[in-house]
Amino acid sequence: MIGLRLLLLLAPCLSHAQDYAPPRYNLSLDLPPEQRWKPVLKHYNYTELKANIDYVFRTSLPKWVHALIRPLAEIELAFLVPEPYAGEIRGIARTLGINIGDVVALNLCYEATAFCTSIVAQDDKGNVYHGRNLDYNFPDILRRMTMDLDFIQNGKVAYTGTTFVGYVGLWTGQRPYKFTISGDARERGEWWKNAISAFFKRSSPVSWLIRDALNDDKDFEAAALRLSKTPIIAETYYIIGGTQSKEGLIITRNRDGPADLWPLDPLSGEWFHVETNYDHWTTPPPSDDRRTPAIKALNATGQANINTDTLYKVLSVKPVMNSMTVYTTVMSAATPEKYTTLIRNEN
Ligand SMILES: *[C@@H]1O[C@H](CO)[C@@H](O)[C@H](O)[C@H]1NC(C)=O
Ligand SMILES: *[C@@H]1O[C@H](CO)[C@@H](O)[C@H](O)[C@H]1NC(C)=O
Ligand SMILES: *[C@@H]1O[C@H](CO)[C@@H](O)[C@H](O)[C@H]1NC(C)=O
Repeated sequence: MIGLRLLLLLAPCLSHAQDYAPPRYNLSLDLPPEQRWKPVLKHYNYTELKANIDYVFRTSLPKWVHALIRPLAEIELAFLVPEPYAGEIRGIARTLGINIGDVVALNLCYEATAFCTSIVAQDDKGNVYHGRNLDYNFPDILRRMTMDLDFIQNGKVAYTGTTFVGYVGLWTGQRPYKFTISGDARERGEWWKNAISAFFKRSSPVSWLIRDALNDDKDFEAAALRLSKTPIIAETYYIIGGTQSKEGLIITRNRDGPADLWPLDPLSGEWFHVETNYDHWTTPPPSDDRRTPAIKALNATGQANINTDTLYKVLSVKPVMNSMTVYTTVMSAATPEKYTTLIRNEN
């Protein structure tokens, strides 16, 4: 009997027993772009990595896109892709012994098909918290490819991000003591044609713009401006958290500019915003409503109790977390050491 009771008590913990931290590596911005990824890639089995990359292509890239991108050689890369991305892509291709076009294609694979949930919230003292789930079609492979990266400059962490091996952009990241950013997809279905033509016109991939902001922007407002106005290849939602009261913003993006800006408004009771993959002024389809359960869980948590731990719990409520969830990250720019990613493994 005692054994059974113990088991029942443990049961809620056991259901989370499979969550685990991904590897965390340094990526040195002081090295030339071509050389930065080699020390990270050496932790992986290249044979397996190449097989995974191949799987990602076959599953998510239309054949005509691969046919257009694959022949890209050094010279087109230099023309189409800005630094440091061109150099980093060149270095990854060389290290893995695959062609440059394939690494570019890999870097376009995740642009618009990720289902996600992002939340930005502030407690009753004005501390800002930010969390996100990243959901994707083939979670098992991506769980193995996920890592946290500290981008090191002059011996210090310039910014931190969560990404997949070989992927130079960031969907999730933090500039310490300044701001945090996540991105959620806004498009469905027939988006490749527009995305590829925009890419050939040198618009930025969605996740490269997040990294640009983390790399270059000195404060929340500069990041918000960049993420609002810079042309990108696919519609998206950018979610930003800052370090001070009211520094929380959801930007609904068209390719050319902002469709809507939705800031936190704690004085009117809006101490959190939830963004999944639907415009916040519309009702999500009943078949994919992750917004209402997230709001319910936040309401139940209460503003006085919100922090990175309780936010993680909100992001663990089903179906906010679901069988496609690859990872959960919680962060708060004012306390950068709290940046935490866990791989979710509950099917
Ligand atoms: C790398 O993975 C391949 C395929 O799974 C395996 O055959 C090989 O032994 C692995 N290499 C190392 C060094 O573990
Ligand atoms: C990463 O870089 C930081 C800052 O330079 C350093 O303190 C830390 O030891 C490095 N970690 C690894 C695993 O090399
Ligand atoms: C959350 O709380 C707000 C404010 O009390 C309320 O208007 C809203 O209906 C609640 N939403 C859910 C889904 O419980």
